Amino acid sequence: MRTQVAIIGAGPSGLLLGQLLSGAGIDNVIVERQSADYVLGRIRAGVLEQVTTELLDECGVGGRMHREGLVHKGIELLFKGQRHRVDLSALTGGKSVTVYGQTEVTHDLMDARQARGLPSWYSVGDTVGLRDFDGANPTVTCLRDGREETIECDFIAGCDGYHGVSRASVPASALRTYEKVYPFGWLGILADVPPVSHELVYANTDRGFALCSMRSPTRSRYYVQVPSDEPVARWSDDAFWNELRLRLDPQAREQLVTGPSLEKSIAPLRSFVAEPMRFGRLFLAGDAAHIVPPTGAKGLNLAATDVKYLSSALIEHYREKSSAGLDQYSDRCLRRIWKAERFSWWFTSLMHRFPDSGAFGQKIQEAELDYLIGSTAASTALAEDYVGLPL
Ligand code: FAD
Ligand code: PHB
Repeated sequence: MRTQVAIIGAGPSGLLLGQLLSGAGIDNVIVERQSADYVLGRIRAGVLEQVTTELLDECGVGGRMHREGLVHKGIELLFKGQRHRVDLSALTGGKSVTVYGQTEVTHDLMDARQARGLPSWYSVGDTVGLRDFDGANPTVTCLRDGREETIECDFIAGCDGYHGVSRASVPASALRTYEKVYPFGWLGILADVPPVSHELVYANTDRGFALCSMRSPTRSRYYVQVPSDEPVARWSDDAFWNELRLRLDPQAREQLVTGPSLEKSIAPLRSFVAEPMRFGRLFLAGDAAHIVPPTGAKGLNLAATDVKYLSSALIEHYREKSSAGLDQYSDRCLRRIWKAERFSWWFTSLMHRFPDSGAFGQKIQEAELDYLIGSTAASTALAEDYVGLPL
């Protein structure tokens, strides 16, 4: 089989890249380790920046998002037992974010790909191999329904997440990695109950961080900070709701509606960047190249902007026979990525309880939060990052 771009991974970055390339008449094949149902079953991101919603519109898959997504113009910060609203829209000249689950984005992109009849090979397991991407004729091999397949291509896009095969295929000496692992994780629950507030609440409490988010007016997504080695089996639904309640203000506590969990899992928190994001004809995008802790809601949005840069560079290559965009891809992405890394690290540091920071650490956090809500300059900086920096 021959294609122009072989895409490894059918997460948001792989699917979005496929859609942008197909729209420009560039052939591509997606190869995914898991089944489509498994990919759709993963509950992850919930907040889309305007840049991301515009990209979904650009490739013709924004319809349902506009009908069902919730436009949010502010967030709430809870500390010292009180909630304070940050008016994102007023501070950023009218920008907002859209609450629309990653599951739904993935669903819409999968449907669009299927409607176009584009090849996606699911359930190939751990059989994917990347070959000769340092030369002119790269190939991707895998086992499909027990048969060995080889895809000859011009380029390989490594969109296979943090644990994927693409970054691992690059010689270690060609990569520089930067990493910070946080001493806690997020225990998340999804439940068909109305959210405690119509906007997201980020809570800094002496019991640890909590986040009240949502997927719709009848479906809530809540998180609490837990130690990183915590087994999820230790948390019954009741234990989760009791802990969340203890981290809320009196009004939210009263509003809290509990119910059986549809999903419950623990996500570790990590900051990670691999540089550069290009090796010959292999380009890394999304979580394959970088991870942010979820506090700033940046992971999916960064994945989307990486593939916007990559698709533009590939389109320029095929239309204008120019390699300028491809040559600049890594540097262009990394400038934006490091700003999002900084913001996500800062917001994580501000909102979580660190095991060794003690009472002094908490006082400093509270002083910074107090400053943040009292200073237009400081809250504007938060708002600009939260709604997303321009492309
Ligand atoms: P992935 O979604 O990881 O997709 C990679 C795909 O590659 C997967 O389908 C995987 O099965 C496949 N794959 C892996 N290995 C192979 C292989 N060897 N061969 C073939 N295929 C392979 N981001 C936000 O922007 N906003 C949020 O609100 C937000 N909240 C989050 C909350 C949580 C709890 C978590 C865990 C993450 C959150 N994120 C958020 C981050 C976001 O989910 C990720 O950044 C996003 O999924 C990255 O997309 P991706 O396509 O690059 O990688
Ligand atoms: C979510 O709804 O899953 C979510 C929202 C905001 C975040 C992280 C996750 O910062």
